[in-house]
Amino acid sequence: MPLRGRFTPPGDKSVSHRLILMALLARGEMLVRGLSDCDDVASSLRCFRALGGKAVEGQDGLRLTGLDRAWPAMPESGEIDLDCANSGTTMRLLTGILAGAPGRYVLTGDAPHSRRPLERVAEPQRLVGAQGSTGGGTPPLTLEGGKVSSVEYALKDASAQVKGAVLLAGLSAADGGPTVVTERAATRAHTERLLDFFKARVTVEGLRISVWPGTLEFKDSFQSPADPSSAAFFLTAAAIIPDSRVTAENVLLSPGRTGFLRALDRMGAHVSITLKSDTPEPVGDATVEYAGPLRGTEVAAEDVPSMIDEVPVLALAATQAEGRTVFRNVDELRIKETDRLMSIRHQLGALGARIKVEGDDLVVDGPTTFIIPETLDSGSDHRLAMTLSLALLAAKAKIPILGAESISISYPGFETQLEALCRG
Ligand code: S3P
Repeated sequence: MPLRGRFTPPGDKSVSHRLILMALLARGEMLVRGLSDCDDVASSLRCFRALGGKAVEGQDGLRLTGLDRAWPAMPESGEIDLDCANSGTTMRLLTGILAGAPGRYVLTGDAPHSRRPLERVAEPQRLVGAQGSTGGGTPPLTLEGGKVSSVEYALKDASAQVKGAVLLAGLSAADGGPTVVTERAATRAHTERLLDFFKARVTVEGLRISVWPGTLEFKDSFQSPADPSSAAFFLTAAAIIPDSRVTAENVLLSPGRTGFLRALDRMGAHVSITLKSDTPEPVGDATVEYAGPLRGTEVAAEDVPSMIDEVPVLALAATQAEGRTVFRNVDELRIKETDRLMSIRHQLGALGARIKVEGDDLVVDGPTTFIIPETLDSGSDHRLAMTLSLALLAAKAKIPILGAESISISYPGFETQLEALCRG
């Protein structure tokens, strides 16, 4: 069944987290429209409120009042518990924000989150002067904030979350000096773009980002762009299902997020973009139209961060493409909501895809006519569940997908939107 029509995905998850959490360091009141209503962003909001932040939901959006570092008094227990549930971004960005907050904070996650490595953020926080200890390298994380020093830090992993955490800590450096982060490969630049937009002093020279301490100044209002990573599911499905043509409206189009559109274009889909605004980041409409069978492509290691969350659905596209597709050095996928590298391989493999992991590369040979098993298992990984749902749509099959309720972690209206696009 072709997918046809225009739609607006939920607000961008990465931007939504940052707007809410940056309010802890900001002055002023800001009306935010179009924020994501997904479970992960609800976790950021819950933690923000637990730290004394004021957020009032109204018909026209969420009114956020900057806390301007007016940290809450410690309760009798001597620590504040912050439940980050499944949201890795909430926990990682909070470590940076709380580095300068006096007190003791215990950041917890749900069971799958508690299996994900956290030393990569705890280590730089110790360097800046916060005491961060994990339970053997994974959540919970106990953080004692206080006096932050500016640091020079070379990121060991291509992670926008870790980059964001170090830059946010730098805003609280007591010595007045710049905190400098050097990346291995360019990752999404939302933290630095928003810091600049909210009047922090930031410079970006290639892969080297510097931030000076200071307070953020909120604007009166902010319209959150829609999430390209949510849009990617229907846009990619349009590239593989004949007669489809789908437009995602008002999505974030920063180069650090649109690697999947460049990959689909190389694979032979018709991809077009209409830019509508550019501040603080490019936003516009993205259209993908079916243009015949796709062909395989090679995704270079340095392009992976720009499509890190889209690899599952691109791997599905690769199963329908002629020839070989290789995603180079996708080892970061091993520490996502599941070991995504293995779950992509196993679940697309269960549909008959010729897919293998070679070292840290994911290799897919297509095209494949799917064979339909009795069930599929997303392992409660939202992005895998949506990918599998589209695989079944392409195969015109209906079987249960275990753990599909996890979809609300990033895209609560996914099923309804899918039905609407199928009606055309
Ligand atoms: C995110 C960065 C990415 C991405 C995640 C959101 C962010 O993680 O997978 O969904 O908002 O900074 P890493 O940069 O740690 O890979």
